[in-house]
Amino acid sequence: MAQVDLEKVTKVYENKVVAVKEATVTINDKEFVVLLGPSGCGKTTTLRMIAGLEEITSGTIKIDGKVVNDVEPKDRDIAMVFQNYALYPHMTVYENMAFGLKLRKFPKAEIDKRVKEAARILGIEELLDRKPRQLSGGQRQRVAVGRAIVRNPKVFLFDEPLSNLDAKLRVQMRSELKKLHHRLEATIVYVTHDQVEAMTMADKIVVMKDGVIQQIGSPYEIYNKPSNIFVAGFIGSPAMNFMDATIIAERGGIWIKTSGFKVKAVKEHEAILEKWIEKQVIFGIRPENIFDKLFALAPQPENTIEGIVDVVEPLGSETLLHVTTGDDSIVARVDPRTKAKDGEKIDLVFDMNTIHIFDKETQQAII
Ligand SMILES: Nc1ncnc2c1ncn2[C@@H]1O[C@H](COP(=O)(O)OP(=O)(O)OP(=O)(O)O)[C@@H](O)[C@H]1O
Ligand SMILES: [Mg+2]
Repeated sequence: MAQVDLEKVTKVYENKVVAVKEATVTINDKEFVVLLGPSGCGKTTTLRMIAGLEEITSGTIKIDGKVVNDVEPKDRDIAMVFQNYALYPHMTVYENMAFGLKLRKFPKAEIDKRVKEAARILGIEELLDRKPRQLSGGQRQRVAVGRAIVRNPKVFLFDEPLSNLDAKLRVQMRSELKKLHHRLEATIVYVTHDQVEAMTMADKIVVMKDGVIQQIGSPYEIYNKPSNIFVAGFIGSPAMNFMDATIIAERGGIWIKTSGFKVKAVKEHEAILEKWIEKQVIFGIRPENIFDKLFALAPQPENTIEGIVDVVEPLGSETLLHVTTGDDSIVARVDPRTKAKDGEKIDLVFDMNTIHIFDKETQQAII
């Protein structure tokens, strides 16, 4: 069992930078948790505090219910894989992987068994005699992971381990790490600023910004129920469309009015939106929830808007339309059979069940 609990963990560096502010999160046993956020949001700092490499300013970190604030890194039973792999250049792959165990005075036979087992799992058995400089980026990455595996730690910490790899290798290593997680039944905390990595690998995503946790949830929750504008805009590509809007009551319904159109809220959203009548909000809708009317299932006048096509981007399996409506420019991801042409009018249909509404002032989600 290996559960990690962060309770109001704060890190203030000597130069007064508040890198992490009151972070509270539980990483369950065998869970794959991804810390996600833009550069400088405090991901590495959080990881280093869990590892014990960085002192915490206030708060508590527990491993398996035991407070480890003052426990030395080597006694935490945690293995960290660094962004730059930090392999010893003068040692072979075998020696790199064996080194940590040697320091801990493991018997030779046990070291040999563990290194070979890890090499087998990672598919690097034939590389054991090479030096790091004789390896490709992906192979080096595997050695770095192997060095962590041989220790059989309670918790694995990964700091952007794929960021040095090319796009194709990244996709491959992504699924390999996921398989490894299942095989080792390990607790993993994984840091990345890449939302696709987070979505595809995580059981649970922790979204951070400016040292503050914005939301904790499954990839599904984070994508479909973002708690604020930052999370909504950070996850998803192309990004969610945001428009200034006002909520109005009209003709027995509740409507969302922007500079370019007026669409009717679905019944399920009415009770919440009633409290926002005549108030300023931000209307959000993802590109895939906007359809070309020609290919929409149930177009109604109250969920159809008219816009002018600025750019058509055919991607093969889908087509992106950049459309101007009023003062707003939005992106729709539509059926590739669309007849849309630059500069022409187009009717777009919104799936009103999937919309998001945010408080303009607090940026928090209302729907
Ligand atoms: N040793 C340090 N001394 C002072 N400030 C630091 C130190 N290390 C990091 N910081 C600051 O703390 C904040 C968080 O840094 P951190 O490295 O945790 O971010 P990150 O989310 O890992 O970013 P990146 O994606 O760029 O790696 C940043 O503002 C950074 O400049
Ligand atoms: Mg970092």
